Amino acid sequence: KIPVIIDCDPGIDDVMALLLAFAREELDIRLITTEPGNQTQEKTIYNARAFTSFMKQNIEIARGLDTPFFHQLEVAAEVHGESGLGDMVLPAPTLPESSRSAIDAMKDVLQSSEEPIVLIATGPLTNIGALFLAHPEVKKKIRYISYMGGAAVGGNTTPTTEFNVFVDPHAADIVFRSGVPIVMSGLDLTHKSFVTLEEIAEVEALETEFARQISSLMKFYIHHTKQTPFHEENYETNIRLHDLCAVSYVVTPELFKGDEYHVEIEIEGRLTRGTTVVDYMERTGLPKNVKVLHTVDREAFRKQFFQAIEKMNRL
Ligand code: BDR
Ligand code: CA
Repeated sequence: KIPVIIDCDPGIDDVMALLLAFAREELDIRLITTEPGNQTQEKTIYNARAFTSFMKQNIEIARGLDTPFFHQLEVAAEVHGESGLGDMVLPAPTLPESSRSAIDAMKDVLQSSEEPIVLIATGPLTNIGALFLAHPEVKKKIRYISYMGGAAVGGNTTPTTEFNVFVDPHAADIVFRSGVPIVMSGLDLTHKSFVTLEEIAEVEALETEFARQISSLMKFYIHHTKQTPFHEENYETNIRLHDLCAVSYVVTPELFKGDEYHVEIEIEGRLTRGTTVVDYMERTGLPKNVKVLHTVDREAFRKQFFQAIEKMNRL
């Protein structure tokens, strides 16, 4: 099995990513950590505990930092709703919050692991940035970071910046300069990793409470996300499953194509705060630190997700 830690800010697509991770036997999820992003830390950890309990998983869930390094937190309530999970109503969590902080738990899990661990990160990189500052020695225990964030071309928060990096560019800068290999599922890829409203009808047809909750969550997401023709056709009916890509890549890398580049984070910038600057033409001569994904076998990706829903529906 592939040992992983999932660092997230649930978040509608974050819980979809958790759902896929729970369903895949290849993964050994050692820890879930939460951070502020789509909503506050208080809400993201609550959502992670509630969803993980709902999915009948027994996994340690640890609380990360409360705010980005320097910037004030700007949550995405207009996309993910006031609770962070749209209009989904989950039973109260049975899983407790870990007594360890996210940083301590990540450090301990990494240090005590015999094999290197894959970090799956689907939020701003605040916790991982803090981990690298506090305990740089754990970097050698990380196989790579499968990261949903950034965009080589076109942002969803500013004209050039993707939301996760926008929230905490300083943390992202530390992570991108850390020397740990990064696989970046940025918007270039994730806007192609969608399911359509028509396809969602297949999930609804399962006619269970679980299927209803998941479909309505996805519909909430599409209705609250800005859609543009820039990345795909029929964009008005496409539900982009950004965070799912970061999990899917770890289990089935063959579904994705990408290339290695030197990538740096613009931490300030008059217009470009949080931009992932990709050195396509090798202008800097600096080492290639990131595999930037750009293409997905969408049909296989969709099937993988729907199979995961069906499996969890039966539990
Ligand atoms: C990313 O931003 C968040 O709103 C989503 O959960 C995803 O991680 C997409 O830009
Ligand atoms: Ca997220």
